[in-house]
Amino acid sequence: MEVVIEARNLEYSYAGGIKALSGVSLDVFEGERLGILGPNGAGKSTLILLISGLLKPSNGWIKVFGKETTSKEFEGVRSSIGIVFQDPDDQLFNNTVFDDVAYGPRNLGMDEDAVKRIVSETLKIIGIDHLANRPPHRLSYGEKKKAAIATALVMNPKILLLDEPTANLDPKSKSELLGILKDLNRRGTTLVLTTHDVEILPDFIERTVLMNGGRILGSGLAREMLRDERLLREASIEPPLLVRFFARLKSKGLVEQVPLTIDEAEKIIDDALKRSMKGQPADLGN
Ligand SMILES: Nc1ncnc2c1ncn2[C@@H]1O[C@H](COP(=O)(O)OP(=O)(O)O)[C@@H](O)[C@H]1O
Ligand SMILES: [Mg+2]
Repeated sequence: MEVVIEARNLEYSYAGGIKALSGVSLDVFEGERLGILGPNGAGKSTLILLISGLLKPSNGWIKVFGKETTSKEFEGVRSSIGIVFQDPDDQLFNNTVFDDVAYGPRNLGMDEDAVKRIVSETLKIIGIDHLANRPPHRLSYGEKKKAAIATALVMNPKILLLDEPTANLDPKSKSELLGILKDLNRRGTTLVLTTHDVEILPDFIERTVLMNGGRILGSGLAREMLRDERLLREASIEPPLLVRFFARLKSKGLVEQVPLTIDEAEKIIDDALKRSMKGQPADLGN
């Protein structure tokens, strides 16, 4: 698999000497869905801004499609990288949602017919075509978030960076959004998203990088990492509710495995019940 983002020994300090990242090395592979998991202040947003080239590393380097973000050649790959900021208000500044989404394509010099076509297509994919003429600052948070994603998507990026895309969304908007992102990924877009919400990972993320205090504490399959209570707690992340609950049952010998999804939990309970039935006296059914 091809590496599309390659970071080595990244360091970043904000003005005033606030160190946000130290010794961060990372590979992202083409077509994957990578989650960057960490508590507030871990350095997730900083890392996303470095990948997008909006911030330059204080030390170390980062390459996207083989081009270092500080190099001249990076300009050539910049348009292949889409970014969705943590705060949608940082992304929406026009009078209508349509104009916000049209902003990028118009900047490329696309003619207005083509702009109209591509913008309405994008709004449909995200499911917000009915909001096209609304002022972005009057939208609900979830609607703003979708509009912000549309502004990135309309440029057809090969890599989409999403900073806490599901934060503050209600459960229905959350699963709709993850569905849209999964579809995009199926069509080939590499996704890198940050989150502090472990509950979105089991169904959505393949590989997770765990961060805290500006460092990477570990990386691996989301399904394995989420069961590692000790590692998660070391990163100040509370393990998923199912993991906490089943780990307790397991410690009492009531179940053998720890599930990550409700379907898995159901099966484990079923198996445990069957086993305990078999353990009953043989004359139970007589
Ligand atoms: N613009 C900024 N100026 C100064 N310090 C900042 C700025 N943005 C973030 N920081 C600091 O950098 C560290 C990492 O922040 P951030 O990357 O936003 O973490 P996360 O996104 O994981 O919550 C934190 O200690 C934060 O206070
Ligand atoms: Mg952040």
